[in-house]
Amino acid sequence: MTELTIRRLQKQEEIPYKLLLLADPSKKNIDIYIFSSDIYIAEKEEKVIACYVLKAADSKTIEIKNIAVDPASQGKGIGKFLLNNACEIASKNGFKNIIIGTGNSSVGQLYLYQQAGFSIIKIIKNFFPDNYDEPIIENGIECRDMLVLSKAL
Ligand code: COA
Repeated sequence: MTELTIRRLQKQEEIPYKLLLLADPSKKNIDIYIFSSDIYIAEKEEKVIACYVLKAADSKTIEIKNIAVDPASQGKGIGKFLLNNACEIASKNGFKNIIIGTGNSSVGQLYLYQQAGFSIIKIIKNFFPDNYDEPIIENGIECRDMLVLSKAL
C-alpha cells in the first residue's frame, strides 16, 4: 500500500475547497476561518485525498475547524489517522485541549470523535439554521444544533 503523508499546506498553494465543502457546505462560512487557520493535507501518490484545518481558539485550546476525506478513500481509517495526527500536532505546539464541532445529525462523526477520546462539552442550539442559508438534512435528520466535543491533550 502506498504511504499517506501529511503536511501543512503552504500559503501559495491551492486551498482544497472540494474537500472542505464535504464537511462544511458553505464556501462563505469556510472563508470566515480558512485564511486565519492552518490547513493540513494528506497526500497519496501526490494526490490530495484528505485534509483537516486547525485554528487556535485561545492560548490553551485549538479547534479542528474542518476534517474531510475524499469519498473514494473514506471508511479506510484515514479519518481516524487524521484526528490522531491533529492531536499530536496540537500537543507539540503546546495546546492543552483540542475541540471539534459537529451537527446533531452527524451520527457517524459523533461515533468517530467519541471513539477517538473526545467528549461532548457544549450544545449550541440552532447553530445551523442561524448560520446557513439552506437547511441541512443528514441521515434523515435535520441538522440544527452544533455539538462541541473536547479532548485533553
Ligand atoms: N457513519 C458511520 N460510521 C462512520 C462514519 C459515518 N459517516 N464515518 C466514520 N465512521 C466510523 C467508521 O466506521 C470507523 O469505525 P471503526 O473504527 O469502528 O471501524 C471509524 O468511524 C473511523 O472511520 P474512518 O475510516 O477513519 O473515517 P473516514 O476516513 O471515512 O473519515 C470523515 C471520516 C467523517 C472525515 C469522512 O467520512 C468525511 O470526510 N466525511 C465527509 C465530511 C465530514 O462529514 N466531515 C466532518 C464534519 S463534522
